[in-house]
Amino acid sequence: MCAVRDWEWTDKASLVRHANNRNVWRNLLDRFPHPFTEADAESWFALVETMSPRTHWALDVDGEAVGGIGIELGHGNYAKTGHFGYWLGESYWGRGIMSAAVRATVEYVFSRIDVVRLEAPVFEWNPPSMRVLEKCGFVREGVLRRSAFKDGQVIDTVLYARIR
Ligand SMILES: CC(C)(COP(=O)(O)OP(=O)(O)OC[C@H]1O[C@@H](n2cnc3c(N)ncnc32)[C@H](O)[C@@H]1OP(=O)(O)O)[C@@H](O)C(=O)NCCC(=O)NCCS
Repeated sequence: MCAVRDWEWTDKASLVRHANNRNVWRNLLDRFPHPFTEADAESWFALVETMSPRTHWALDVDGEAVGGIGIELGHGNYAKTGHFGYWLGESYWGRGIMSAAVRATVEYVFSRIDVVRLEAPVFEWNPPSMRVLEKCGFVREGVLRRSAFKDGQVIDTVLYARIR
């Protein structure tokens, strides 16, 4: 149904098509640009190429990259924590794709990368993402009150984490 694989430069058109969407951007950190242009896609592929190990992957449905998933490793005292993030093109929402992708990626990360904790902060207006995390064994650890400024609003963040 869905494969988690490396990003390829040939994904440029599909990345722009699916990422250039306000409803996707609204649930992600602002470093995910909006509008999302071809230049943004090229910067992304160039960045991913420099990563060793690669910790960001494309979600592939029928040979097309329709979303992304990955972790950012923490630093210093937080080096064994990974910050987990993901997004899917809106036309693919509601089919169980992300739940399957999160499950597979968590298993891969815990078996290959030296992290003991994966954490995912979710904006308060995103219950579907909270549900995905709950289905994949993440625990709701708390509410970071009024911790984020997104789309012109100060909002709560709900912190989810899964321990190896
Ligand atoms: C959040 C997102 C990743 C979900 O992907 P998806 O493939 O549609 O998710 P799934 O189909 O696997 O699961 C969604 C779950 O949320 C549930 N859901 C949908 N709308 C809901 C709502 N308003 N309230 C509560 N649960 C809801 C679905 O019923 C489903 O749960 P179920 O399997 O128990 O029925 C996708 O919508 C997305 O990419 N959004 C934009 C980016 C984003 O939010 N990234 C995450 C940032 S933390």
